[in-house]
Amino acid sequence: MTIKEIYNLTLQMGALADFRGEHGERRLLEGKKKKYEKMDEKEKQEFDLEALENPYLDSRIYNISDDKAIKKVLVGIDIEPAELLMAKEIDNIDLIIAHHPFGKGLAYLADVMDLQIDVLNYYGVPINIAEGLMKERISEVARGVNSANHQRTVDAAKILKMNLMNSHTPTDNLAAKFLKNLIEAKNPERISDLIRLLNEIPEYREATKIGAGPKIFVGDSENRCGKIALTEITGGTEGSPKIYEKMANAGIGTVIGMHMSEDHKKEAESAHLNVVIAGHMSSDSLGINLFLDELEKRGIEIVPCSGLTRISRAKQ
Ligand SMILES: [Fe+2]
Repeated sequence: MTIKEIYNLTLQMGALADFRGEHGERRLLEGKKKKYEKMDEKEKQEFDLEALENPYLDSRIYNISDDKAIKKVLVGIDIEPAELLMAKEIDNIDLIIAHHPFGKGLAYLADVMDLQIDVLNYYGVPINIAEGLMKERISEVARGVNSANHQRTVDAAKILKMNLMNSHTPTDNLAAKFLKNLIEAKNPERISDLIRLLNEIPEYREATKIGAGPKIFVGDSENRCGKIALTEITGGTEGSPKIYEKMANAGIGTVIGMHMSEDHKKEAESAHLNVVIAGHMSSDSLGINLFLDELEKRGIEIVPCSGLTRISRAKQ
């Protein structure tokens, strides 16, 4: 496979697992196209044209130094110059794939957060409330990533002449869909049942062994789950802390997330929601693994690094 084929495959898989449904991300692209058409020349020059084709702007190809057939990839959750130097020490790494974005992908992280509006709406939060609260939070995230050293890893890849890409929201979508299907099929009654169910997933089982397994952030193991919402697995990063009360009003009993800040935890607590934090690196690993299985099936060798717990389901 070429780098572009690997990249297109991740976008395609992400779109198929998207909460907005098969046509949701198409509608998003059409909306961006309409906005683009109304822009004046100067605005058009500054516009990132990739936004017209790619619904996940936090996932990009950053450098192609050698556009060869890819046979062996180094894959990690966070890729920094250290991992690129490491790749040089391993024989025949053709491409490095990161999960978390940098460069342009990081600068556009807030762009994918619109997805959370639809996810919240899917679980019953009125669209106007989800939209209102998320808009505020999206601009906060956009300002937050502004100070980053965006190009550090990208510059290193160019100097070392290494092929580099990342896949963030597409693989987070895969993790969210996987968990949603499992939870809907097994319908756990109490929080302890939910934790047990999560621990049946090898990525979480491995995380539990190092003390980073699923944890109850809010609530008690004997609490009943009620309606379980997967609102905090995909869609860029943490949403608005003001949303929890609205979620409780919409009939949600338990939220499953990857990670949660103290501010968010306090708000969830006062809304009487249960919060189960599945784990960050483990949940990221789950989504990435589902994508990597497809590369493995196509004969690509995978070398995991930087927090990725590689579990293959390719032969199942
Ligand atoms: Fe992550």
